[in-house]
Amino acid sequence: MKIAFIVDPLEGLKPYKDSSIAMMRAAQARGHQVFAILRKDLRLRDGVVSARAVPLTLSADNHDWYAAGAPGDFALSAFDTVLMRQDPPFDFEYITATWLLERAKAQGAKIWNDPRAVRDHSEKIAITEFSQFTAPTLVARATEDIDAFIDEFGDVILKPLDGMGGSGIFRVRRDDPNRNSIIEMLGQLGSQTVMAQRYIPAISAGDKRILIIGGEVMPYSLARIPKAGESRGNLAAGGRGVAQALSPRDREIAETLAPILWARGLLIVGLDVIGDYLTEINVTSPTCMVEIEAQTGCTVATTVIKMLEQV
Ligand SMILES: Nc1ncnc2c1ncn2[C@@H]1O[C@H](COP(=O)(O)OP(=O)(O)O)[C@@H](O)[C@H]1O
Ligand SMILES: [Mg+2]
Repeated sequence: MKIAFIVDPLEGLKPYKDSSIAMMRAAQARGHQVFAILRKDLRLRDGVVSARAVPLTLSADNHDWYAAGAPGDFALSAFDTVLMRQDPPFDFEYITATWLLERAKAQGAKIWNDPRAVRDHSEKIAITEFSQFTAPTLVARATEDIDAFIDEFGDVILKPLDGMGGSGIFRVRRDDPNRNSIIEMLGQLGSQTVMAQRYIPAISAGDKRILIIGGEVMPYSLARIPKAGESRGNLAAGGRGVAQALSPRDREIAETLAPILWARGLLIVGLDVIGDYLTEINVTSPTCMVEIEAQTGCTVATTVIKMLEQV
């Protein structure tokens, strides 16, 4: 197969931990041709979606991880499958990409995750569909609503709706001297909707990333344990990743969501679970495949490629 990966600029990817590169390597190992497309090189001309694509030859060397061939122009439908792997922010430019990719899909391209499903799915708000699994959660813009939530629970996490990697996450207690400033900053003086969630103390045992591939729940999570003095478990915020078998509750949450999300065309999903609570459903560019494979031998990236061979 010819497999195209729409990715952030190659020089910014970290080959020792990047899930997209792990999938590229797995694809090549299974005999497929790998292409990289940068978001900026996607275009829609007279109704046809095409892109400048660079053929890549992957190596196992993390210093010099690919050799690029001569770039060519391809209709997206010329690939057997296309993986959209761009990181948030989920801004208007991201939404525009989903519109272009939706047109490509109409022209016969197979694109994962399904662009419409990605557009319809807010990584933060999507958990509210499964509120039986969430801690008390508020999505609001008015300062008085956020204030009332903090007063009610005393210890909360505030999050922007378009962030990732722990960016813009604040833990705020009722008596925090910076409470009002944090609310003003995060909500940009009442002009941005934010999420407030009861603080879950089990974060000290890690923010568990559970991967679901084509509706199949991977048996290990990666618990991302915050470093000392840090509220955020994200690896990008210095968290330490420890792979562990799913708990019965992890499995209950993941098995409930798996068929629902897969039916929507979400092939690669990364749930975040803290203690017994679902806190985020990542669908733009879920990661942690490399860490889980290194610690458990569970070949998640290869599972993705095998799934792509079937769908
Ligand atoms: N309800 C919560 N209780 C405790 N910590 C939380 C809660 N929600 C988020 N966090 C902390 O913030 C980090 C990032 O949260 P998350 O919602 O997954 O956003 P991001 O998109 O930045 O990963 C988590 O790893 C965790 O440390
Ligand atoms: Mg997260």
